[in-house]
Amino acid sequence: MLIKLDTVGDHFLAAELKILTAFQKNTPATKKGEKQQLISIDHWSDASLKEEFHNLKSSKNYKAAKDETISFTGATGEVVWVVGLGDKTKFHAEDIRKVIAKILKGTRSSKFATIGIDVPGFNTIKDEARTAQVIAESAYMTDYTFDKYKSKKSEPHEFTVFLAHTEKKNSLKIEKALTSTKNICESINVMKDFINEVPNVLHSEEYAKRVEADVKKNLKGVKIKILNKAQIQKEKMGMFLSVNAGSAYEPRLVHLSYEPARSTSKTKHIALVGKGITFDTGGYCIKPGTSMAGMKNDMGGSATVYGAFRAAVLEKAPVKITCIIALTDNAINELATVPDAVVTARNGKTVEILNTDAEGRLILGDALDYACDLNPHYIIDAATLTGACLVALGNQVCAILGNDQKWINEILSAAKEQDEYMWQLPIIDEWRHDIKSKVADLKNIGTPMRAGTAIGAAFLEEFIKNDVKWAHLDIAGVVDSQSHLPYCSPHGASGLIVRSLTHLLVHAK
Ligand code: BES
Ligand code: MG
Ligand code: ZN
Repeated sequence: MLIKLDTVGDHFLAAELKILTAFQKNTPATKKGEKQQLISIDHWSDASLKEEFHNLKSSKNYKAAKDETISFTGATGEVVWVVGLGDKTKFHAEDIRKVIAKILKGTRSSKFATIGIDVPGFNTIKDEARTAQVIAESAYMTDYTFDKYKSKKSEPHEFTVFLAHTEKKNSLKIEKALTSTKNICESINVMKDFINEVPNVLHSEEYAKRVEADVKKNLKGVKIKILNKAQIQKEKMGMFLSVNAGSAYEPRLVHLSYEPARSTSKTKHIALVGKGITFDTGGYCIKPGTSMAGMKNDMGGSATVYGAFRAAVLEKAPVKITCIIALTDNAINELATVPDAVVTARNGKTVEILNTDAEGRLILGDALDYACDLNPHYIIDAATLTGACLVALGNQVCAILGNDQKWINEILSAAKEQDEYMWQLPIIDEWRHDIKSKVADLKNIGTPMRAGTAIGAAFLEEFIKNDVKWAHLDIAGVVDSQSHLPYCSPHGASGLIVRSLTHLLVHAK
């Protein structure tokens, strides 16, 4: 799929399919007390299409309710879809994403080569550039498929979406917005490919290679360092190594760094850290089969931070960014860590491992300590850390916790800006106390079935030092299966949270 900018009246007129919109318009009640409901198509620039529409029999009963669509053939043989958007005052940016995704999915069987979208018709947010950007965002995200392992691939169908706008003077601004959107969505597709890749192929060593290849090909100027097992041993990452102990593959710690062109000693430095468990069996505390399926997504945190890093670099973010992803599977062999084992973390704290399935916090704890040594001002980690997050916030909401309210607020407002659901949970002293061990400094679980997401975060907090402002995102719920969002595939990686993090990085001052 290609997305091109267009002005209303140009190619838009030549598109095989034209997408126009209609709104509900409530007029005052008549004398009889009946409330008349009319529709508004005042924003259509093409008078002849308006006339054709009014001549349609089906337009008489048309109410322009959300997703209510009428189709007719225009004068030059083009197909015209009039899509109802309901009440204009209740139609927001996220509604644009949803409706665009539904429309584009609806065009799949017809295989139009050119689709013209009337941008002003969707502009309920009073900003044509932003509207065009949101439309493009949804179109790119909807266009994603993962059919690598299907013998019968979905038939290739190349098509061009023309975004027709009216404000010619804004062309450059819109063009720029679309380029950004393409960078961000391409990064989302890259991270989705990583998540959707199967665990017998994407083990730690392979994953690191793929990240390296992508960096070398697409991220000019980014420095990359990949630590192998011997180097991770040298770093004394005892928790990380304990998770890898039962694996057939070596662990990898990928360390990426980006500096903006005009970087000074005052430039803000943000570190992103991601959980990259390429498959989580649970280890000796093995997961039951039904909970184990899907655990290839347990590297979703690493893919999310990589996706955001990638997009921010392409967008030339004004801050220094470090991205650290810790990669291993959590598997079992005769060398695998047993419950009751005590290991020493990179920061010197001893940790009693009471549940080998609470492995994410072990690899992240060491990665966070490593990140703090680089003296960033801020850290964000992302992880599919706890099943408890799904209990607390469902599949739809990402949890955020941390040690600095201002930093958390900044991330929350970036998420709000991008219409991604994020909600803060507290870390309280009682839960900090709950992870104290009888035999070691810490244990890797708290009271079973109690505040699991926050206990995970309280554990991670033990590895933050040098006054770094830190926030933890538990993406266990939102990483996949966003069937309620038509622009995400109902199965597999969602691509969510990359937009929020990219927004944060690109707009950081
Ligand atoms: N990867 C899981 C968390 C998870 C569960 C992610 C479901 C996505 C969907 C994590 O490693 C895990 O197993 N956590 C345990 C922690 C517990 C043992 C304290 C959990 O949530 O049960
Ligand atoms: Mg686990
Ligand atoms: Zn896990």
